[in-house]
This record gives sequence, structure tokens and C-alpha cells, in this order.
Amino acid sequence: MTQAPLILPMPGNETFARQLAKARKSDVGSVETRRFPDGETYLRLLTPVAGRAVDIVATLAGPDPDFLRLAFAADAARSQGAERVRLVAPYLAYMRQDKAFHPGEAVTSDTFARIISSLFDGIVTVDPHLHRRLALSELYTIPAAAVQAAPALADWIAAEVDRPLLIGPDSESAQWVAAIAARTGAPWVVMEKTRRGDFDVSVALPALDDHGGRIPVLVDDIASSGRTMLAAAQLLAARGLARPVCAVVHPLFAGDAFARLQQVAARVVSCDSVPHPSNAISLAPLVAEALATLPARP
Ligand code: R5P
Repeated sequence: MTQAPLILPMPGNETFARQLAKARKSDVGSVETRRFPDGETYLRLLTPVAGRAVDIVATLAGPDPDFLRLAFAADAARSQGAERVRLVAPYLAYMRQDKAFHPGEAVTSDTFARIISSLFDGIVTVDPHLHRRLALSELYTIPAAAVQAAPALADWIAAEVDRPLLIGPDSESAQWVAAIAARTGAPWVVMEKTRRGDFDVSVALPALDDHGGRIPVLVDDIASSGRTMLAAAQLLAARGLARPVCAVVHPLFAGDAFARLQQVAARVVSCDSVPHPSNAISLAPLVAEALATLPARP
């Protein structure tokens, strides 16, 4: 009889892995890892993987310190006889530098995708930041699935917010806001964003005459410095609207971003692609579906 796939969480990914295992009716294994005094990584797979299909769960919000041990885990699983090794990265890093904007710049999206493709037989992620590249397959040479968080966000908003007005803080967010609007039937608008630097963002909003009395819900894929959401929430306050609910797919929240946003928002919630106190929306069921249908590597 074929064994169920083994879900193997890298450190910090245990909660997501347990939810995924429940949705996939599979087991959760464990990995031991620590640093040697010189900073090198020790890693041991504590669950036998021989003959098993292994799905390693590793969100990549902190890719630089986390990546090498992920590579060791994938290679160890393969050399210990795993039948297949896939990556579940609910947040996928290195999606934004997808071209050289200035001479000499590294196109890190391409390099990162090549390294991941050499280590794994497939990848499942959630709402990767596809901008100039339209699909993961333009970067990754392994079977790749990009789960859309919009249905989960939409269901949360429908259940928790009375008479929402969906607002995207920039034109890129229109795709998420439109998808959520289609599922909830709520009206939506999109702001115009100008970014002058990492922490210097301003937004503009069309007139909202028709939407009085609704609760603004700001929706975006990533909150990193948090300045996009912050500028949007501040503009709503200046317009005399209610404090917004802020809903984000990937809660990176660098530095004091979360605390600052909480001061101007009625509520800040996120999907659990990155473990964070704002997590309120589970992605494991959607990720489990994508894993079940991801094609095998040719
Ligand atoms: C931009 O294109 C994205 O959709 C987000 O709006 C952006 O990454 C948010 O970044 P930050 O929180 O640093 O303003």
C-alpha cells in the first residue's frame, strides 16, 4: 500500500504543517537543526523518508538566514531515498528583483528560482509577487502552483465585516480586490500609489460619494515596511471615513510596521503564510488542494 505523503516542517513552520497534514490526511515528520559554534548548520531528519513523497514546509519570509538549512533538508531527503521532494513555501521570497533596474544589478528572482528548481521536484506557494513575469513557470523549471488567497480573504471579510467597502492601495492590488469583490458582492475602489523610497509612500483616492456608511477594508498582498497600508489608512481618516480593517496576504511587517498600523486601523488581519500575531485566515486547505493536483516533474 502507498504511504501518505510526509509533511516535513522547517523550524517555525510546525503550525502550518500540522494544518496541512490534517487537510491532506498525512503525517508530520520532524527535522532537528542547530548551529555549530562557528555558525555552520547541523541538520538531521528525525523521520525516515525512504520511499516516501516528502513535502517540506518552509515559508521564506527570512530567506537569507533560513535558506541554507532548507537546501540541506531537501538534499538530505533525496539522498536518504525520498521518492519525491517538493517545497511548500506559503510566502515565496525573491520575487521583486525580477529585472536589472541599474547596470550591474543581480536579477535575484532568476537566480533564486534556478537554485530552488535544482533542489525540489515541485513548488506550491501563495500569491507570489508576479509583476513583470506573469507566471511562476517563467522563472521556475519545476511544476509550480500559485494558490490564490482571495477566496479565503473573501470568506473572512464576508463573515466578519458588515457592509464592507473593499479598497486596494495601489493598481497592483486591483487583482486581489476585484477577486474578493466578485465573491462577496462588495463594492471596490483602488487608490493610486506613488513610492519615492522604501519608507516614503503616498496614495490618492477617487471620490467615494456613493459608499457612505460602509466599513473600509484595505486589501493588499504584502505588508513589508507597512507604509503602503499606513498611507492608505491615513488618507481614509483624512477623508472622514471609519477606521479601516486591514487585510493582507503576507504579513512581513518589518520593524514597527505592525504597531504603527494598529494605531490607525480598526483591525489588522492576515493569512498565515508567515507566522504573525495578525494571522486570522488559514491557507492550509487551499495549499492542500494545490499539492493534490500539482503535476509530477516530467
Ligand atoms: C507592491 O506592489 C505590493 O503590492 C505592496 O503594496 C507592497 O509590497 C507593500 O510594501 P510596503 O509595506 O513596504 O509599503
